[in-house]
Amino acid sequence: MCGIVGYIGEGDAKEVILEGLEKLEYRGYDSAGIAILKDDVIQIVKKSGKLSILNDYLEKNPISGNLGIGHTRWATHGAPTESNSHPHYSEDRKVVVVHNGIIENYQQLKKGLIEKGYKFESETDTEVIAHLYHSLYKGNSIEALKNLIQLIRGSYALGIIHSDNKDELLCCRNESPLIIGIGENENFIASDVPALLKYTKKVHFLENGDYGKITKSNIELYDINNNLVEREVNTIEWTLEQATKGGYEHFMIKEIHEQPETLRQTLERVVNYHDYSINFEEIIKKDELEKIENIHIIACGTAYHAGLQGEYMIEKIAKLPVATEIASEFRYSNPFVDKKSLCIFVSQSGETLDTILAMKECKKRGAMTLAITNVVGSTISRDADKVIYTMAGPEIGVASTKAYTNQVLNFFLLAIYFAELKECISSDEKKLLLEEVKKIPQQIEVLLEDLELIKETSEYFKNVTNGFYIGRGLDYKVALEGSLKMKEVSYIHTESLPAGELKHGTIALIEEGLPTVVLCTQTELLEKSVSNIRELKSRGSYIISVTNEENTEVIANSDVTLLIPKTIDILSGLLSVIPLQLLAYYTSLNKGIDVDKPRNLAKSVTVE
Ligand code: G6P
Repeated sequence: MCGIVGYIGEGDAKEVILEGLEKLEYRGYDSAGIAILKDDVIQIVKKSGKLSILNDYLEKNPISGNLGIGHTRWATHGAPTESNSHPHYSEDRKVVVVHNGIIENYQQLKKGLIEKGYKFESETDTEVIAHLYHSLYKGNSIEALKNLIQLIRGSYALGIIHSDNKDELLCCRNESPLIIGIGENENFIASDVPALLKYTKKVHFLENGDYGKITKSNIELYDINNNLVEREVNTIEWTLEQATKGGYEHFMIKEIHEQPETLRQTLERVVNYHDYSINFEEIIKKDELEKIENIHIIACGTAYHAGLQGEYMIEKIAKLPVATEIASEFRYSNPFVDKKSLCIFVSQSGETLDTILAMKECKKRGAMTLAITNVVGSTISRDADKVIYTMAGPEIGVASTKAYTNQVLNFFLLAIYFAELKECISSDEKKLLLEEVKKIPQQIEVLLEDLELIKETSEYFKNVTNGFYIGRGLDYKVALEGSLKMKEVSYIHTESLPAGELKHGTIALIEEGLPTVVLCTQTELLEKSVSNIRELKSRGSYIISVTNEENTEVIANSDVTLLIPKTIDILSGLLSVIPLQLLAYYTSLNKGIDVDKPRNLAKSVTVE
């Protein structure tokens, strides 16, 4: 949550910061602000609402300088008003702070500061940092920062400037992400890579507990034990083009269209089609898998839905028991996890706090941890014992699309790899699975060619307030994701249910015209799904089915059928989710919603 950008150098800090914040708006966008140091004075401008409001204001009322920090906010403490927006000042207007995360003991610290005579202007936890730093500063910035970190508890990435030290940008992190961008006679801080791609591809990923002082030509970093450290210089391979819209109207539709390519890349990287080998030896070895008695998949949101497909695939193909769990619940459930467990954490951003904390819990219990993540250098990728990178490229649209299909594909390949290690798959079976999955990128391309019917169907959704998504078996897992996509970007209340469960209560809600999206791709469950469609139709529901052209009974009983190419049942989720992503996208457009930045959501949720 919240995006931070900081700049120190010879260029125009305002320009760098505003451009960077624009790339970080996916992290939160209910207010934005900037602080620039010019001569001896720090000027702050902040506005509630989207970044464009701040941009417009600054165009008419320009500020300039070579040192500054900026912030785009996703409110946690206090409403998204101007006074609660970051940056926050100390009382003498000399110290300015931007913060991502939550200071858990801020009430207690605030009380102490008020007793010392400090006056607060906002309801935020962040303002505490500005006053606290001010009270600790005795002429040495690093000393003050070190002492500050010892007093605050919680998750934070901080950027601090102080007009007494005009050549310094201070930063630190704990649990919330922060990177340092390395330039020529200029340096940067940011919450995430896309913010800096225009200026540099060389970055340090800060570790938890790191803090330091940045000047235009030097980076001085200390670790959690106060030792001076040199962090690795990582070179980012994403291009700016990859992190921008590249001709599409929105990131979400761009990312939907990128799926064939990103899936193809994953296949090329992981599968050797000459001998059908799967290149996961680095991930887990035969003797390691032999010690594993159970697998847990842990994630949030869309990544959790990918995990549900993963569970299905690993159980069916590798015949290993798997439980998929929501990270925020898992952590407090006293889970049956020990050194015989493999815990797989799925996270596009690699920064979701619930998932990070669940991983910590599993490590404490001695489990082997494997991350499936999209962001190289993210916290989850660094904390896990093993990592699979989804390599979907930067995903900016708040609603996850290409990361999801890449996660599912990686699970599919992992399931085959596990089956091979366990010697429970024949080479013919393996070959068949790998040949079928090879067709998926091209089959998605076919699906993306003609969008007319989906656009028409989205017109129907424009006027509804409720809907259902149902399916059986693997189809149910995709229904969950389809429904979530619709909720996220269209604000229509949709509920997903196993099709057979509908009659146990929820069918009471079906009335004339209420849309039900029915996924029908699992051969042995088709007849049952057709019965469900009839039950719904006879009660007036408007049926939108997702199936392939061979399933004529389904088609005949539906009001609309969104056809997908034929594949083997276990892979159908990679195809059936595409029309559901598109349906959500076009419904959102019809309703005039900002599809890449839907209300109340943030792409990366770094609070519990
Ligand atoms: C947020 C996003 C979702 C995402 C979830 C998990 O809620 O809005 O789109 O699925 O976090 O994020 P992760 O980065 O861990 O996959």
